[in-house]
Amino acid sequence: MPDADQQAGGPLDRSHVLLTGATGFLGQAVLEKLLSSYPTTRVVLLVRPKGSMSGTARLPGLLRKPVFDRWRERVGDAEVERTVAERVTIVDGDLEAASSTDVVLPGDLDVVVHAASTVSFDPPIDEAFRTNVSGVAGLYAAVERSGSDPHVVHISTAYVAGVRKGVVTEAPLAHDVDWQVESAAAVAARAEVEAASRRPEVLKKAMGTARGEHGKAGPQRVASAAEQARREWVTKRLVDYGRSRAQSLGWPDVYTLTKALGERVAEQQWAHAGHRLSIVRPAIVESALSHPYPGWIDGFKMADPLIIAYGRGILPEFPGLPDSVLDLIPVDLVVNATLAVAAAPPDPASPAYFHVSSGARNPLPFRGMYEHVHEYFHRHPMPDQERGHIQVPSWRFPGTSQVLRMLRTGERAVDMAERALLRMPASDRTRDWMGSVHRRQQELEVLRTYADLYLSYTQAEVIYDDSRMLALHRALPPERREAHGFDAGEIDWEHYLQGVHFPGVTAVMRSFSGRRRSAAGEGAVTLPERDDVAAVFDLEGTVVASNAVEHYLWAKLASLPRSQWSAEIVDLIRSLPRYLRAERRDRGDFIRTFMRRYEGVDEAELRRLVDDVLSEAMLQRTMPEAVRRIRLHRDAGHHTVLITGTIDVLVEPLASLFDEIVAGHMHSRDGVWTGYLATPPLVDEARAAWLGRYAESHGIDLSRSYAYGDSHSDRPWMEMVGNPQAVNPDAHLFRHAKRRHWRIHRWGEHTQGRLEALLDSVGTEVRR
Ligand SMILES: NC(=O)c1ccc[n+]([C@@H]2O[C@H](COP(=O)([O-])OP(=O)(O)OC[C@H]3O[C@@H](n4cnc5c(N)ncnc54)[C@H](OP(=O)(O)O)[C@@H]3O)[C@@H](O)[C@H]2O)c1
Repeated sequence: MPDADQQAGGPLDRSHVLLTGATGFLGQAVLEKLLSSYPTTRVVLLVRPKGSMSGTARLPGLLRKPVFDRWRERVGDAEVERTVAERVTIVDGDLEAASSTDVVLPGDLDVVVHAASTVSFDPPIDEAFRTNVSGVAGLYAAVERSGSDPHVVHISTAYVAGVRKGVVTEAPLAHDVDWQVESAAAVAARAEVEAASRRPEVLKKAMGTARGEHGKAGPQRVASAAEQARREWVTKRLVDYGRSRAQSLGWPDVYTLTKALGERVAEQQWAHAGHRLSIVRPAIVESALSHPYPGWIDGFKMADPLIIAYGRGILPEFPGLPDSVLDLIPVDLVVNATLAVAAAPPDPASPAYFHVSSGARNPLPFRGMYEHVHEYFHRHPMPDQERGHIQVPSWRFPGTSQVLRMLRTGERAVDMAERALLRMPASDRTRDWMGSVHRRQQELEVLRTYADLYLSYTQAEVIYDDSRMLALHRALPPERREAHGFDAGEIDWEHYLQGVHFPGVTAVMRSFSGRRRSAAGEGAVTLPERDDVAAVFDLEGTVVASNAVEHYLWAKLASLPRSQWSAEIVDLIRSLPRYLRAERRDRGDFIRTFMRRYEGVDEAELRRLVDDVLSEAMLQRTMPEAVRRIRLHRDAGHHTVLITGTIDVLVEPLASLFDEIVAGHMHSRDGVWTGYLATPPLVDEARAAWLGRYAESHGIDLSRSYAYGDSHSDRPWMEMVGNPQAVNPDAHLFRHAKRRHWRIHRWGEHTQGRLEALLDSVGTEVRR
């Protein structure tokens, strides 16, 4: 049944409304309210294309968003379809291109609600200016071109006031900055920074770091890591340009600077040209108090990452002032305020300004927010796989500089610990240490990011006066106030935060942790049955708990009388530092250097030894978990592949486990090995190239395939598949696997045989 505001003749009756930013958080809520509660309005949406989808093609996806659920439940699918068909049209277009004549807006617009914006605090400077300043200019040009004379409600932000203390009134900003000069400089910055990033000294530095990190993974990996580093350098620099320019002009970040300049554009291009303009400045918009339903939110908004991080126990302190006001406002109040403003246009050329904020009349101090969050998570802790529930820390608010000092000390300590661990040989213990360092690093990264982004908001000493907005609320007919009011003074923070907002923003995380827990409890692995999937295994450290040096020892000692063992072992030990140096440089170099020891070996004799003696040693050192996993893949119909730099003769004992074995070959003359390889060793990128060809010729879908490896040098080929899994990884691969959320296995804890025991068994066999 239509309520009072749905009657024809109400506010915005028969208005044609242009809405930008309808796919965003606030825009969705405005669109829902217009469709569900303003039945005589028509709405045109400016939607930009995304990926391969045009703006128009994005509409069905938009209408399936939860914001429309209650309305859909109330009126039914057919009515939603009918309403949209009759009342909604789309103009495909990007704000950045709105100045071009391609963007054609209707000529009968009554109202424009301009909500589209880049809202990230720290985008590269040119991106922020393109949308929030030049894009705004383009939009006003497009509206002007259309011949319409609408009342424009320009959505800005309370934070355009910049870094200041005290009360800020609902009035124009004092503009001393020339937006055109700043826009031109911001756009030019990209070309400047791109050129600087190609300077030899920058590239050499990127190459040096890439070589240190990825040298073992091969030259292509080094080159792509260096290029990636160059691109990241460009982005970081442009973010820095934005932040520095904003701060040098008195704003905390490029977002608020560009929003402030956007207001200037609106005043100059629209109000001063004799049109009606209202500027609405919300504070921090959060989940709905009641409409479309309590707790509705689209993704995580500004305060939510902090709330979640606190609930996960990873914010031991935060650099905020306990008495600074955290100015939150529920999204439905912002929507109601926006539409009430839209229905009450000011005189042409006299823009009106409104704050939609809570700080002036119903302040929520940062410490009050902390107490609500603390109490909420104390009563409803987040689940945790290992600890059952996460205990949240108690903050003492020791002061910004002390928290920042703690942060810097922590960052230095984990950095040193990581560097030391990366130099240590891989073992369960180093992996445990690496795991702790990684966790701590993540915590500090979260704290650093939020401290950098939010510091100025959590120590703001500014109050946004909202008298004009309150007057507008009070001017609503009493029967409209409940469903369409926007008095922030009425918010009960305990109810809103603990009863509505926190449960809403933590619901996704809780169900995600629940799913992860039940997945972790599954025990048995089931693999999809397919014949276009490969499971590719590295050998040493992944399938067998041994390495090339050990294989050599087995082979060599089995061929020597016991009396000559010690001389051979001493010689090998003396050469080990040389081999280790080669290994650190390049795995291929190591194999080439080490294989020279096989010079003079009679191949037929070695084969006999492998059959009689070494196969037993090799099988004893095979990890049972690896064997089980290989069999699982076989049972699922996958192609099982072993790929190794070790010589083919030595891996023959494993032939029955795999469909394909790819190993090295020794060069021989008259059946005697020369100590040289017959072909280059199949390591790092050479393996990746082989795998690519194998997949093509055998119809393998790599995105569904599996790779198991233990070393950082395995990354190039492991990254080609959809399911890379690290087995007993070395420190570099462990770090990479953690960052990319790869599965990490610890196999072989019970694998039989220390080296001495095996040598004994080899000796016994030989003596027999
Ligand atoms: N959220 C807050 O706490 C808050 C507080 C104060 C003020 N505000 C203001 O409220 C407005 C809406 O914010 P929000 O939180 O809803 O942001 P949001 O969720 O990020 O939505 C931004 C919207 O702008 C669109 N957009 C961005 N760049 C565009 C471009 N170049 N061309 C066309 N459309 C573009 C986006 O479209 P795509 O879907 O194509 O990306 C999306 O629809 C903004 O003006 C913001 O400054 C927000």
